[in-house]
Amino acid sequence: MTQASRDWWRDAVIYQVYIRSFADGNGDGEGDIAGLRARLPYLRDLGIDALWINPWYPSPLNDGGYDVADFRDIDPRFGDLAQAKELLDEAHGLGLKVLLDIVPNHSSWDHQWFKEALAAGPGSPERARYIFRDGRGPDGALPPNNWRSVFGGPAWERVTDPDGTPGQWYFHIFDVSQPDFDWENPEVRAEFLDILRFWFDLGVDGFRIDVAHGMVKNMNGPDLPYDESGLLDRPSIADHPFFDRDGVHEIYRGWREVADSYDPPKLYVAEAWVEPAERLARYLRDDELHSAFNFDYLKSAWTAADLRRSIDDSVSTLASVGAPATWVLENHDVERVVTRYGREVTASGTGHAGKAKGEVDVELGTRRARAAALLMLALPGGAYVYQGQELGLPEVLDLPEESLQDPVWERSGHTERGRDGCRVPLPWATSGSSYGFGSGGSWLPQPDGWGELSVEAADGEPASMLSLYRDALRLRRSIPSVEPLAWIDATAEDVLAFQRGRGFACVVNLGAAPVELPAHREVILASGPLDSDSRLPADTAVWLAV
Ligand code: NOJ
Repeated sequence: MTQASRDWWRDAVIYQVYIRSFADGNGDGEGDIAGLRARLPYLRDLGIDALWINPWYPSPLNDGGYDVADFRDIDPRFGDLAQAKELLDEAHGLGLKVLLDIVPNHSSWDHQWFKEALAAGPGSPERARYIFRDGRGPDGALPPNNWRSVFGGPAWERVTDPDGTPGQWYFHIFDVSQPDFDWENPEVRAEFLDILRFWFDLGVDGFRIDVAHGMVKNMNGPDLPYDESGLLDRPSIADHPFFDRDGVHEIYRGWREVADSYDPPKLYVAEAWVEPAERLARYLRDDELHSAFNFDYLKSAWTAADLRRSIDDSVSTLASVGAPATWVLENHDVERVVTRYGREVTASGTGHAGKAKGEVDVELGTRRARAAALLMLALPGGAYVYQGQELGLPEVLDLPEESLQDPVWERSGHTERGRDGCRVPLPWATSGSSYGFGSGGSWLPQPDGWGELSVEAADGEPASMLSLYRDALRLRRSIPSVEPLAWIDATAEDVLAFQRGRGFACVVNLGAAPVELPAHREVILASGPLDSDSRLPADTAVWLAV
């Protein structure tokens, strides 16, 4: 194996499969492994390098599967281990790598360990795998401190002891059904090393690590000064008691040893909402994780100044630890980019879907999302594409309230709709049962007209988002990946223009008026029609041979 093929991930495009909403093979209204296997040729033809599959473990799905009841199995609604093995073999046969999602900060309350913890009582080794504390006040009736769940409400829940009396409290950063593990406990550490090996031995190529900046906590930390607690908010105070604590790095050094014991080595991608970029870079040191989502980029406004700052920051800071930058516009937690870029405010404060209000111009958002795709895919490093992004799906903003499943909806007292709007099952066909998603409907309702955005409608249609992604992913392979980004002095303030090597340039017009293109030999790809050969309209990007 050459160094270049060991380093495949450095400029890879990784496609995110939200399995419950991707494709339904057995007609029960939920996506599954069978559906995904049937669509692998679609993914190969799209031109991506790898898949990242959201959690598929047994789970009550209180938080879309991020509440894991058994880390070494697959939920029957998605398939079984034998099917998973077949999926891995088939994907590898098509030249696609496969990453899973590991959720080390917490389990489901349906996990065997948590059931044992409740049954065993205070002070037991079973309780020591989680974070149980006595309450405050005379009867212990008050939570141990004022910390809040990022889904809303307190981060503590009181249990009822087996004899029916009120007992201790357990800590949960997320939903009440997601108790946090105690990572000070060596048994928890050993358990996760074993889980990693379990999946690596099955053939999985790596993991996306959920809440990679969680796990290590200072449970003696002070009460926190809350104003409004936002979902997945980055730590906004120094020395946060449960996010981005220095102790987490030692865990990753151990995980890296496991990854490197395989040939080829396995890969880790951090989901870490930390800032500034220097803090993120610490996760990507040589002996820790390989790569991380660039949420600073995702949250940036659609302005040349914001994006350029984010690009420069990311590239230079990550280079200081030898890690490539990555680029991401969407995932299953944030508002779809077609919608976000169609709003008056295009920056995303917390990155959180379901919060933004106000008018959306989907046509404008789509034009910008097309330009943003060419920008992202021309930048040096890796990129992520969330399922349906390649179809230009908008956020579904009007899901009926009774269909909402994100725990954010309940925990926010029905003030935030949560993230279901970006999780609506994919349209594969122009018509028919759930627009080709499956034969038995879809677990979240699809809006009318969803079929017009389907793969069938977009396929072979030169002006479709799908054709743009296919062309860009194919042509991207000829952009010299070793060449760094070199900014070209742009003619206008609202323009981003850069070269990658001597022959390739990308120019994006984020302003309101058309601009002159720099000298070039040929337009390789354009996100929208050009005024003439040398003028780039507003909200349009081009790849040029120069
Ligand atoms: C981040 C995941 O992306 C999100 O969907 C989940 O709710 C939280 N982590 C908790 O696991």
